[in-house]
Amino acid sequence: MRSDRQTSGPRGWQGRSPESWGAELGVPLLELHDELPSTSDRLRELAQRGTPAFTVVVADTQSKGRGRMGREWHSPPGSGLWMSVLVRDVPERFSGILPLAVGVAVARALERMTADSVALKWPNDILIGDRKVAGILCETVGEPGEGVIVGIGVNLRPPEGGLPPELAPGVAFLEGVSGLPVAEPAVARLLLGELGRWVRPVPERLEGRLLAEWEARDCLRGRLVILDGGASGTARGLRADGALVVTLADGREVDVRAGGVRLAGVGRSPALHGAIAPRYGTGGE
Ligand code: BTN
Repeated sequence: MRSDRQTSGPRGWQGRSPESWGAELGVPLLELHDELPSTSDRLRELAQRGTPAFTVVVADTQSKGRGRMGREWHSPPGSGLWMSVLVRDVPERFSGILPLAVGVAVARALERMTADSVALKWPNDILIGDRKVAGILCETVGEPGEGVIVGIGVNLRPPEGGLPPELAPGVAFLEGVSGLPVAEPAVARLLLGELGRWVRPVPERLEGRLLAEWEARDCLRGRLVILDGGASGTARGLRADGALVVTLADGREVDVRAGGVRLAGVGRSPALHGAIAPRYGTGGE
């Protein structure tokens, strides 16, 4: 029987049970935690025990939140929506497209909460005004094709005591840009609604409406970028398989399928939170 009892729960989710919130969000199972090492690790445990698609795990803070490429994801209490969502049945050949589709979904959801434009930086950083407002980490689970854990971190408001100074310049907070208080469940509802639309089923190729949605927000196209190996060139957009096309300084065209790129002229820092300036993602490159 569903219970509407008062629960403590993470910030923004108090007053109702996880079952009640889960029903409102239209997901089969929702776990709400005050603290976890990582919502994606918890969801992996559930996935391995057979939990259904669109099971969602949320935590108020993560002690071992992680970002792409093994970087740390700074997840202080009360400052963001730290959420993982299970997507099942993801054929391996589509796995390069899924993070891009999730990026479109997150960008569209956040646009509903701010008048500012939301940009996408390949492969899946979400930016407002050249600062990172959200990041996405997709990790496979189980046998090939079985499923993907989609971890989404959205920066909502500065943590108590502020951000470490080396992170602050590159981070945007949704409340900061919208100028209005933002409730965690409202952000989750928009995110899950858009995810349902863009990843059910998982798209096979970046084409049609999905490509148009990406291109409308692509902040790299035409800009000078530096690849992980140090080479630089001009970003030209994306291929149907999700690769970033870059024309190198010597005129050669390369398809970038792994890692990331950064904008030339934007410095590096040991930032944890991930940002376009001073850096993208979390941790070192
Ligand atoms: C990135 O930009 O590098 C991706 C960041 C992803 C962070 C989210 S927060 C919820 C989920 N749990 C994690 O440990 N990471 C993801």
